[in-house]
Amino acid sequence: MKQLIAGNWKMNGSPASAKALAAGLAAKPGAKCDVVLCPPAPLLSLVVAAIGSSALALGAQDCHANEKGAHTGDISAVLLKEIGCAYVIVGHSERRADHGETDAEVKAKATAALKAGLTPIVCVGETEAQRERGETASVIARQVSGSLPDAATAANTVVAYEPVWAIGTGKTATTADIAVVHFNIREVFKTLPGGSGAGALRILYGGSVKGSNAQAILATAGVNGALVGGASLDLEDFWRIIEATP
Ligand code: 13P
Repeated sequence: MKQLIAGNWKMNGSPASAKALAAGLAAKPGAKCDVVLCPPAPLLSLVVAAIGSSALALGAQDCHANEKGAHTGDISAVLLKEIGCAYVIVGHSERRADHGETDAEVKAKATAALKAGLTPIVCVGETEAQRERGETASVIARQVSGSLPDAATAANTVVAYEPVWAIGTGKTATTADIAVVHFNIREVFKTLPGGSGAGALRILYGGSVKGSNAQAILATAGVNGALVGGASLDLEDFWRIIEATP
């Protein structure tokens, strides 16, 4: 399976830095994995222009569950598709924490993404307290079964496992822990309506992935790519991660 490396720029970047990063990546030789850039919404059109005819894809960081209407400040999946997005991240732990997004809301957003023809990257992950209480497996199972659309299949949806305590902290889960959680995610996916092809589901790991640890993480059983935050803002470090895909 071709791996997927996604750069989540979060609330970072300017028109100048976005243009330089996207154009710099577009000028690199072809990668053996799929690569998607997820800039802040105001930079999407600029990044799609800088990507040009390269193999890089565009993704957004969130969408609304509705197609249009009176939702000030929100963005529909339909519009994201029209301006050139192929992917949208939904249910990132920062949105679950900052905006109180529930599994049901994440599922509605991912469903809207699928309907619009976007591939949702649905994020799940336990907090440090949940891990210490031994609740990792149950939290992840609840999030996967509650956040994935009924129409989700291995071909149209991506899942990202991001332990909350590993995001932006420099701490990563051990490759043994990552393998166990990814195995469990696939097992839960199998029980969902579209879960029959679970072997082909792309499950990304996220949380302090950088050039120096990417090779070990990406070679871990059940890992099919990475969702990268901080390191995706650095052209050369992000490229090292892309080149580390097996
Ligand atoms: P960091 O790579 O900065 O830890 O962020 C991970 C993340 O949240 C990507 O969505």
